[in-house]
Amino acid sequence: MDDKHIRLLHELGFDDIDEKKMTNEYWKARAADALAITTQDRDVYGCLDHTKGEGVRIFDIEGTEYLDVTGGVAVRAFGLRYKPYLDFEMSIVDIVHELPGMDFDAIPQTLLAEKISRITPGTHKKRVVFTTSGGRAVEGCMKSAIDLSGKKRFVAFRPAFHGRTGYALALTASNSRHKYGFPQGVDVIRVAYPYCYRCPYGQNVEDCNLECVEYLRYVLQVEGDDIAAVVMEGLAGEGGLIVPPSKAVQGFYKLAKEFGAYFMGDEVQAGMGRTGKWTSMENHDVTPDYISMGKAIGGGYPMGASIGPVPMFTGPSRHSETFSAEPKMGLLSLWILKHMEDGDYLRKNAENGVYFLKLLDELKEKHEVIGDVRGMGLMIGIEFVKDKKSKEKAPKLRDTIIKNAVQRQKLWVLGAGQNVMRLTPSYIITKENIDEAVNRIDSAIKESI
Ligand SMILES: Cc1ncc(COP(=O)(O)O)c(C=O)c1O
Repeated sequence: MDDKHIRLLHELGFDDIDEKKMTNEYWKARAADALAITTQDRDVYGCLDHTKGEGVRIFDIEGTEYLDVTGGVAVRAFGLRYKPYLDFEMSIVDIVHELPGMDFDAIPQTLLAEKISRITPGTHKKRVVFTTSGGRAVEGCMKSAIDLSGKKRFVAFRPAFHGRTGYALALTASNSRHKYGFPQGVDVIRVAYPYCYRCPYGQNVEDCNLECVEYLRYVLQVEGDDIAAVVMEGLAGEGGLIVPPSKAVQGFYKLAKEFGAYFMGDEVQAGMGRTGKWTSMENHDVTPDYISMGKAIGGGYPMGASIGPVPMFTGPSRHSETFSAEPKMGLLSLWILKHMEDGDYLRKNAENGVYFLKLLDELKEKHEVIGDVRGMGLMIGIEFVKDKKSKEKAPKLRDTIIKNAVQRQKLWVLGAGQNVMRLTPSYIITKENIDEAVNRIDSAIKESI
């Protein structure tokens, strides 16, 4: 970190910080002491340098450069410090951005709501509530579904991830640590996510008769069909990058309609064009009643959106929070959406995804421990197994591969599910970057087996 940034910390009152303290060990220990965050794996990752980085290149505090394929957990649409985005941000530095959008109108929020309604699937009239996180975007949709339907129960999947607070946590089921001991905020009927590599019903996708959908029909018959909404990710992210077959997603949608329930697509991770369409549900030709968006919609700032059918809420003050697409964030989000259109990023993401998957399929042929490779656009998973025949999950091996990828191969990468490596790079990733990422994964696997 250069002197300018160290001086800045001094100006903020932290005189004890100097060049000698710029080590991963020092800052990891200090962070562990101060922060209650429990998702950090400090055994694997160093402390990031907040003053350095460009595009898909990220640095730790000791100056080590990494190729980033996390996209900041799918948050950075255009990577780090994307020049055109920074230029736009600088050009709006003087606007009044401290205007609480839920209580008073300002133009950017309205324009953003109109734009989001236009780009999300379905020509029906929609309304939007902006939030500060993906979990709250999910909860806004849930509250509206309860409000409009008068029903209080939901259908969700296993695995599924929808957030870690309140109602959203009640839908989540991807890791027992998220839920253990916390009360269930809302009543949820849970069925298996369509996971064809490990079909819970022992079927083959080519000739299956959608037992997963039929099982939900049976569950609704015996447990009651007073369901506000069926909530589904179009591609399960945290649960292990699982791509469901479109016929199953369509089956769940039809079943929801048959039982008079809303269908909700959680697009917090898979939305915003990541899969080559604005929403992952469009890849399945499904138009949800509700859509939750988050992550990349805020261009690196905290923002989410609950999108629902008119009137969305039955009366005034049924739902609100203090912050809501304040002018600066609203404008930044509009810029991201426009830049994606102008730069044809939906097509690029789809194409780069196909290229990524092709290389990873070749890697799968090489390594007995890669059981499955799957994804849509720039949302890809590699599932690690003991061997291809037994398909026995290999969570420890996955952890070792990730550790080697990060620490030895300098690939900034995350896991998902129990035994999957997750690739959600920023949309500016090039074919050369993808070649480089696959080579590094290849080396990390060789170092780990
Ligand atoms: C599909 C999905 N829904 C909801 C969330 C929760 O978003 P947030 O962490 O912003 O609350 C996530 C976060 O990873 C997600 O992947």
